[in-house]
Amino acid sequence: MGVNRGVLLAAAALLFAAVMLPEVVAVRYIVGGNMGWSQSVNYTIWAQDKKFYNGNWLFFMYDRNQMNVLEVNKTNFESCNSEHPLHNWTTGAGRDVVPLNVTKTFFFISGKGFCFGGMKVAIHVEKPPPPPSSSPIKSSSPPSLRSRVFVPALFAVAAAWDALLLLL
Ligand SMILES: *[C@@H]1O[C@H](CO)[C@@H](O)[C@H](O)[C@H]1NC(C)=O
Ligand SMILES: *[C@@H]1O[C@H](CO)[C@@H](O)[C@H](O)[C@H]1NC(C)=O
Ligand SMILES: *[C@@H]1O[C@H](CO)[C@@H](O)[C@H](O)[C@H]1NC(C)=O
Ligand SMILES: *[C@@H]1O[C@H](CO)[C@@H](O)[C@H](O)[C@H]1NC(C)=O
Repeated sequence: MGVNRGVLLAAAALLFAAVMLPEVVAVRYIVGGNMGWSQSVNYTIWAQDKKFYNGNWLFFMYDRNQMNVLEVNKTNFESCNSEHPLHNWTTGAGRDVVPLNVTKTFFFISGKGFCFGGMKVAIHVEKPPPPPSSSPIKSSSPPSLRSRVFVPALFAVAAAWDALLLLL
């Protein structure tokens, strides 16, 4: 049998890439970039050139002995009131992950007085855009998340197998 190992490996890599595609698409933002969640960042400026989509993640990295991460409502965001957070994301490690799993504006502040110094960020989360290689099949109802994630992956798998069969 003349099946080339290189061809099989390439096909396996393609299959792997196709299956892993949804993971690659799940964007994770480090809040404040390499400055993290600190007093040296203007978070209005940090957020303004970014698009946040439902399904993205925020990663807060900070000095666990000083700051924390609290999700508050708009009123308490504006007044830096940390008394009644909607969600306390602080785990104690100084590394907190927040799933942006609702299409809304999320408001985060640091308590312990840091909000007044500017440690506050509003994250406007939008519906995810259609996939870049959308299928030509038109549907009157919006596609479910499942079909949007898995249909392109299945096409990629099929294409990988077609390529393999052509090479054999
Ligand atoms: C935010 O919560 C406070 C109570 O902590 C409440 O008084 C206020 O009306 C709420 N604001 C919004 C916009 O929901
Ligand atoms: C948030 O949760 C952490 C860890 O459980 C806790 O130590 C801290 O007191 C909480 N902060 C607030 C403001 O609820
Ligand atoms: C979003 O994620 C949080 C934390 O994991 C969870 O408590 C909440 O139920 C999720 N909301 C939705 C709409 O999936
Ligand atoms: C961040 O920058 C914006 C736009 O330049 C400015 O209006 C705002 O006051 C700044 N915030 C802080 C906390 O410095």
